[in-house]
Amino acid sequence: MQTPSGTFALVRGVPKTFHRAITPSESTEPIDVERAREQHERYCQALEGLGLKLIRIAADDRFPDCPFVEDTALVLGDRVIITAPGAEARRGETGAIEQALENYMTLYHIQSPATLDGGDILLIDEHVYVGLSSRTSSLAAEQLRQILADTRYDVTPVAVDGILHLKSACTYLGDDVIVYLPGHLDDDFFARYERITVPRNEAHAANCLSINGTVLVPAGAPETRAHIENAGFDTLEIDISESHKVGGGLTCSCIIF
Ligand code: GLY
Repeated sequence: MQTPSGTFALVRGVPKTFHRAITPSESTEPIDVERAREQHERYCQALEGLGLKLIRIAADDRFPDCPFVEDTALVLGDRVIITAPGAEARRGETGAIEQALENYMTLYHIQSPATLDGGDILLIDEHVYVGLSSRTSSLAAEQLRQILADTRYDVTPVAVDGILHLKSACTYLGDDVIVYLPGHLDDDFFARYERITVPRNEAHAANCLSINGTVLVPAGAPETRAHIENAGFDTLEIDISESHKVGGGLTCSCIIF
């Protein structure tokens, strides 16, 4: 079985301001910061259990969304591309990530006025799909194409509608299989892949994290989890209810390389 793999996972702690993280308009539930911290720690332990070495960065209370490190940098081969987050309140999150990653790889930057959130990048083998969402611009997709021009990666934009990020609607498990929530992009766009369709009442499960032979699946998605297991993948259930309240998914809280 050919699934995404990695050696390191960069993670960042949950700040005491996490209850002020940017919240989808439909979410009204209060956020329990202590619970978010406990869930984050169990998530970190799960990543370690899958063989990843953690690089831990301290939380920064100035940035309520800072645990969602995925949005701040992309690692593609031997390059790290520091993003330009689409939400102004999140732009300052990138500095600490840049410092942490510059010792490992060559740095590139998405330049303003382009904006890009890592949650809009879906990597499938050498194909980099860039979600054009409210956070990510076509100018950023073009900059990414230029940065990667002399590499094995190709870049394809895809319009995203009515959901935060491309990976809120679609994630890659390996072996040409994706989990997919219909209705937020051209439903034929990923027709070349085998699709596990996520029911609307388990919408949060469109964001799974497949790494080193196991698929992390969020709690509260038994139907999706059963379909993933029936497709031949090992799964591990993780409860990240507090992240879900602020639009975060399983891929959001780590950068794996
Ligand atoms: N709360 C996650 C985000 O809006 O980026």
